[in-house]
Amino acid sequence: MASVPSLASSLHQRIADALSAALPEAGAADPLLRRSDRADFQANGMLALAKKLGGNPRELAGKVVEGLPAGDLIQQVEVSGPGFLNITITDGAIARTLAARAADDRLGVPLVERPGTTVIDWAQPNVAKEMHVGHLRNSVIGNAVVRILEFTGEKVISRHHIGDWGTQFGMLIQYLLEHPHELDHKADGEVSGEEAMSNLNRLYKASRTLFDSDEEFKARARRRVVDLQAGDEETLALWQRFVDESKIYFYSVFDKLDVEIRDEDIVGESGYNDMLAETCRLLEESGVAVRSEGALCVFFDDVKGPDGNPVPLIVQKSDGGFGYAATDLSAIRDRVFNLKADTLLYVVDVRQSLHFKMVFETARRAGWLTEGTEAVQLGFGTVLGKDGKPFKTREGETVRLVDLLDEAIERASAIVREKAQDLTEEEIAERGAQVGIGAVKYADLSTSAARDYKFDLDQMVSLNGDTSVYLQYAYARIQSILRKAGEAGPVAHPELALAPAERALGLHLDQFAATVAEAAGEYAPHKLAGYLYQLASLYTSFYDQCPVLKAGEPAQVENRLFLCDLTARTLRKGMELLGIRTPERL
Ligand code: ARG
Repeated sequence: MASVPSLASSLHQRIADALSAALPEAGAADPLLRRSDRADFQANGMLALAKKLGGNPRELAGKVVEGLPAGDLIQQVEVSGPGFLNITITDGAIARTLAARAADDRLGVPLVERPGTTVIDWAQPNVAKEMHVGHLRNSVIGNAVVRILEFTGEKVISRHHIGDWGTQFGMLIQYLLEHPHELDHKADGEVSGEEAMSNLNRLYKASRTLFDSDEEFKARARRRVVDLQAGDEETLALWQRFVDESKIYFYSVFDKLDVEIRDEDIVGESGYNDMLAETCRLLEESGVAVRSEGALCVFFDDVKGPDGNPVPLIVQKSDGGFGYAATDLSAIRDRVFNLKADTLLYVVDVRQSLHFKMVFETARRAGWLTEGTEAVQLGFGTVLGKDGKPFKTREGETVRLVDLLDEAIERASAIVREKAQDLTEEEIAERGAQVGIGAVKYADLSTSAARDYKFDLDQMVSLNGDTSVYLQYAYARIQSILRKAGEAGPVAHPELALAPAERALGLHLDQFAATVAEAAGEYAPHKLAGYLYQLASLYTSFYDQCPVLKAGEPAQVENRLFLCDLTARTLRKGMELLGIRTPERL
């Protein structure tokens, strides 16, 4: 007997269940059900199954057709080709399934059965340094992944592994010690992010100049590094001022980027200081790391330099200093043993892949990563200029992230102003920011993270094509229809026949839950972005072909309003998961 499918399940799931029930001998075999152009769905699983059971796939497919229960789900099934099943759904089943979806706040997206704990390392700028486009990527992608995972019920802990430690601080601290008022703020003064960064830049340049020209300062700066590492109080207090000043700047950029960062999640490199010596001791005692020319190293059979010699992961330098690797290994211990992570996720530039490969392997050998724990680098590609080369200013310098964001907001505000009839300046500014930042985020999220992409503002803020502006307009347009509907409200009418554009839209809406699950499982926000773009396109066709408020029959009006409303809610939820706003009016 076919099990009664739950109302909340998707059409896709209900058909898959019906197919399995029609052929009990199939057991748990995957019917390989897909959306298809020929019918609504195609199931290709009979081929593999026939091979397994030793029969003829067409015959097997025929048996399934006979075994399918008569009901209101399937309108037609056809065997085609070597044994494919082409399945057409009834219009009523589409409307009923969507109505159940609409009644659910989560739009039919289930919570995962066994949620785990994911510690995700994202948005990790460096203290006393300007943020660049690379930090755009680790912030935007990281934020989307956090939102998507949390929505599925996973426990997510963010760690912003900021670069707040290292020898460069010796120079900065020493300079500040000798020029004590350089970071003073006016008594009344709130310092803006811009000011904070310009203070840091000024100090950086001045101390660098001195460091390069004055041997004695250089020596004092080097001794200062030792003091910092030894935890000298005065030195640490000065170091803290650089961190604080940088945080003012970071927060201003995150704010502009509309990305929320919590202070307690900022655990930079310095946060693992107390663990470094022990991490090295454990590695050395267990034999995972060995001394080589004074340095503590981990070797790998498959990691060799151009000369064929093995390139080790250096955990401790021969002068006793700890580097990036020791910190990351300590962070793994903290995340696994203290935070109880099942999954460690790192949103970091692909150019650091070798580092993470070696770090993960070392942690496995040390027993810090066991079978039950997964460590994944979600590596992202490079942001390119229009010329296809890594993004640089005309002078060949790295582009400041703030400048890019400002330009995007400016462009978007111009578009909003042009389209707006009745918006105040304040509204234009607010929407300009939502559209501009959305455009930048969407461009970053709509290609798979690992790929490089071109930063092209003209394309990003275009109203047509695969842009967030297009999606935001689709959303705003629906809201405007819903406002104009007056008395009429969105109500599903399963008794009505659906036009082709309505069916296509409805069947796509049905796939939202599966798409979210896929995006979460693969850490692939671009799959969600692609889904939303298609949703907006299908909505555009529907809107062109099916009059909504002028549909005539009140039931028809309600049913179309229902499709509009569910589309809007799905767009809104999906965009929210990507970290992009959907203004009610544009
Ligand atoms: N601060 C580094 C950078 O700007 C990224 C840190 C990545 N995270 C880590 N655990 N190593 O490139």
